[in-house]
Amino acid sequence: MKITEMAHLYVKTALREGGVAVDATAGNGHDTLFLARLAGPGGRVYAFDIQEEALQRTSALLQQENLLDRVKLIKAGHEQMSAYVNEAVSAVMFNLGYLPGGDHRIVTGKGTTLAALKEALTLLQNGGVITVVAYPGHPGGKEEQEALLDYCKTLNSREYRVAYTFYLNQAHHPPVLITVHKL
Ligand SMILES: C[S@@+](CC[C@H](N)C(=O)[O-])C[C@H]1O[C@@H](n2cnc3c(N)ncnc32)[C@H](O)[C@@H]1O
Repeated sequence: MKITEMAHLYVKTALREGGVAVDATAGNGHDTLFLARLAGPGGRVYAFDIQEEALQRTSALLQQENLLDRVKLIKAGHEQMSAYVNEAVSAVMFNLGYLPGGDHRIVTGKGTTLAALKEALTLLQNGGVITVVAYPGHPGGKEEQEALLDYCKTLNSREYRVAYTFYLNQAHHPPVLITVHKL
């Protein structure tokens, strides 16, 4: 199982049909599609990206699957999440780094990612989950991951359960998964 698939397993525990979710990094739209399927016809998915190209790819994928009606595509940084989402959410997914097949110089950054995680926590309902897949291998990736871990360690254990997962026997800088469950 890829670490991104493991993130999906966690989301499945929290997002039910009719639920509300956020894809904080729409990219090629795979996570948005996954969330849209889980949320079902009565649910909603807010998908953020700063690149028009990413939102167009996401839109095309969702249209192809006939699921675009339950998705709101937002061209804005995820650090502005609560300006666009005015309801409690069951799941927020982050898949950090750059757009595969796009401009590798446009990447998530530790300041905005941390700000977005804090915004996501304010929106998360009890029983909800935030998943963050981070890539320490590209420039700035390690610093971003460390900033996230340092912050997550400070979360109150009576309110949140935080886990950190990566494959111990993968070479170089394997991607990592951070999950935050609101109790
Ligand atoms: C690894 S890709 C996401 C892949 C996507 N989840 C998928 O399933 O295809 C990371 C995306 O984050 C976007 N991004 C970078 N900074 C951002 C920010 N501040 N707010 C929202 N998206 C951002 C990039 O444009 C890129 O498309």
